Amino acid sequence: ASLSLHLLLSVLSRSVYQNPCDAPSPRQTHLHTLRALVDTNYTSRMSDNHASYAKIPPDTRKVDSSHMDSNGPQKLAEKDPMGSGMSKLEALFSHPLYNMPTPPIHEDDWLLKVKHKGKALTSAMTQPIGTGAVTATPPPPPPRLRFHLGISRWQLYPHLDPNMASLAQQLSTHRIVSADVLQKSGGTQLKLVMSFPNYGQAMLKPIKQERDEETNFNLYYFSDFERHNAEIAAFHRDRVLGYRRIPPAVGRLVDVVTEIKDITTDHKLARTFFTSPVFLLQHAVCGRPQNLEASLAMMLPDPSLATRRTWRSPWKCSYSRSKLAVWEKNPDYCDTVKTPPYNKGTRLVDLIDMTILDFLMGNMDRHHYETFEKFGNNTFLLHLDNGKAFGRHSTDEPSILTPLEQCCRIRRSTLLHLRLLSLPQYRLSDVMRDSLSHDPLFSVAPLLSALHLSALDRRLVTVLQTVSCCQERQRSRHGEGDDVIYENVTDYKTLVNHVTPAR
Ligand SMILES: *[C@@H]1O[C@H](CO)[C@@H](O)[C@H](O)[C@H]1NC(C)=O
Ligand SMILES: *[C@@H]1O[C@H](CO)[C@@H](O)[C@H](O)[C@H]1NC(C)=O
Ligand SMILES: *[C@@H]1O[C@H](CO)[C@@H](O)[C@H](O)[C@H]1NC(C)=O
Repeated sequence: ASLSLHLLLSVLSRSVYQNPCDAPSPRQTHLHTLRALVDTNYTSRMSDNHASYAKIPPDTRKVDSSHMDSNGPQKLAEKDPMGSGMSKLEALFSHPLYNMPTPPIHEDDWLLKVKHKGKALTSAMTQPIGTGAVTATPPPPPPRLRFHLGISRWQLYPHLDPNMASLAQQLSTHRIVSADVLQKSGGTQLKLVMSFPNYGQAMLKPIKQERDEETNFNLYYFSDFERHNAEIAAFHRDRVLGYRRIPPAVGRLVDVVTEIKDITTDHKLARTFFTSPVFLLQHAVCGRPQNLEASLAMMLPDPSLATRRTWRSPWKCSYSRSKLAVWEKNPDYCDTVKTPPYNKGTRLVDLIDMTILDFLMGNMDRHHYETFEKFGNNTFLLHLDNGKAFGRHSTDEPSILTPLEQCCRIRRSTLLHLRLLSLPQYRLSDVMRDSLSHDPLFSVAPLLSALHLSALDRRLVTVLQTVSCCQERQRSRHGEGDDVIYENVTDYKTLVNHVTPAR
């Protein structure tokens, strides 16, 4: 076991992309890596982890803990992922890096409280008020409620969430009982909120019309919408990176007559379907309901239950052609950013994580991000509204990476994930292709074209190159490149020690 872990670590530590500023350094040998991993203070959190889950009622916050068995990590390290018949995604998700024990989740670290006795939040929320049904064993909460109950200070859902499949299934098949336009206060952005019989709700974004004018005219009401496939791909992308900060989004063919026009109470929306001549023509000619490709994204808990706070990105674009934003003029801009909340905790590296995600998918539309108010400044960042991503595959937008370039700071866990995804057997584009093939719309058409997928690999190289340049620059200044890494992989050390007990 220890040999295979050596190999694993050496692969990881050598997978840095070779580039002009990446001089070979003896510090990068796997022996050094291994010693660094072992020689540091750590605490075993495996048992704590089990204990904390034991306090949560089963079925509500259950995660698949099979990878946290006492021999789990060993087994995983020994496994040859590619020889085992696993899919690319399964192989990636069973890699030890994705299965490091996580710190225990305390009661206050859950977004929503679960009442242990009497009428739990679960039954209060799933049964219509006034039915008064008090059953001894309430039915298990529906998938969307389990999703809400699983939101913690650190992520939206756990790795290998057993709830994910049923959640996706519901979003893509459950009957839609109402469709309403959600008008964001102050924004021009249109969104449709679809409701399901069990009070679940999802945000709908339809396919973005092709360049073709007829289609444009047909769907003019939707011209404000963002791309449905970007929304879906962003969810997969975020999950593949191990972030889990984007709400689940799945594809669905929506019948625009029965599932939107007939049930909406929004007259303007309904009228659109009557008055769009191209639509009516097509409908008459084909004699069958028109299916519209759309993405349905899980709604987060209602703000009345969980308030969210919106933060302006410090690297927001200036939107003025004549005037540069402050960060464009000042190479030391990052120093001015390091005031509250960016001077404490993980906020800065969280922002860098978001930067990397956005660069990979070419999303320039991130002016703001959100957090859950309950968790204060010490929490993960929600990456909402990704519909403008994946617009271009032929060019990259280097300005998106500015925060990483200027701050030269990245989480160890993020860097390890990125390096893993740059290895041939876990190649990002392959894993993404596999992941997206599980979406219901895959049978209609691939959600990302081959060109978009290969752009991901190219951009990943750029990110790793940027990190290497940062390390090189810092080494040339004061001999060490360590300031670049925000060390957060104590659990990885636990894993190493677990396999090689002699210290
Ligand atoms: C090592 O970890 C333990 C447990 O978390 C802690 O009490 C101790 O202060 C740590 N030691 C050092 C040197 O950081
Ligand atoms: C959270 O960040 C804000 C700055 O945006 C700051 O005013 C506040 O003091 C911070 N709270 C804590 C507890 O650090
Ligand atoms: C390191 O950061 C990642 C990403 O936020 C997180 O999933 C992981 O739990 C962190 N590790 C520790 C030991 O906190």
